[in-house]
Amino acid sequence: MKKLVYPIIGLLLLFSACGSEKSSSESVKDKYAKKAPKSLAELEKEYQKYNGIGPVAAFEIPADIDQTKAEEGKTIFESKCTACHKVNKKFIGPSPKDILKRRNPAWVMNMILNPDEMVQKDPLAKQLLIEFNGSPMANQNLTEDEARAVLEYFRTL
Ligand code: HEC
Repeated sequence: MKKLVYPIIGLLLLFSACGSEKSSSESVKDKYAKKAPKSLAELEKEYQKYNGIGPVAAFEIPADIDQTKAEEGKTIFESKCTACHKVNKKFIGPSPKDILKRRNPAWVMNMILNPDEMVQKDPLAKQLLIEFNGSPMANQNLTEDEARAVLEYFRTL
């Protein structure tokens, strides 16, 4: 047994020496990336069925799109969200196109209704904040019905 102890201690020392190596030219983004070592794509796979944190519990959306609701959502989106979100490209925030292919409906609504807590605690929202250089999603004080209408609009994009 004793024969093994020294090589093991040696190895441990070697590892800890490597770990403490620091480069001073580290960007803020790299530092964040170390704290959250998983990429958004990895997290998206892991949390595909995740509801996020907020007032909305998991729910199923009906197969057919409710056009009236979607129109209502479009109006809300255009007045309260386009300062940061563009439908066809990444802007200050991500494009909402195809969002339901990568997120749960309840997650999307919780992100709209409770963004402050989401970016602090939700693994996906935290990583999004990093990818968008620390600019947080703004709480636009929508009601649950308004958020649901915006979600319906997102389905038409
Ligand atoms: C002041 C800018 C700003 C406004 C206004 C804003 N957002 Fe955002 N939003 C962001 C940013 C930045 C992100 C990504 C980074 C983050 O989550 O902090 C984001 C993320 C999101 C996400 C998650 C997207 C994804 O790919 O997972 C949704 C959904 C969203 N916003 C919906 C909305 C809706 C709906 C409105 C209007 C009611 C709105 N946002 C208004 C800046 C904004």
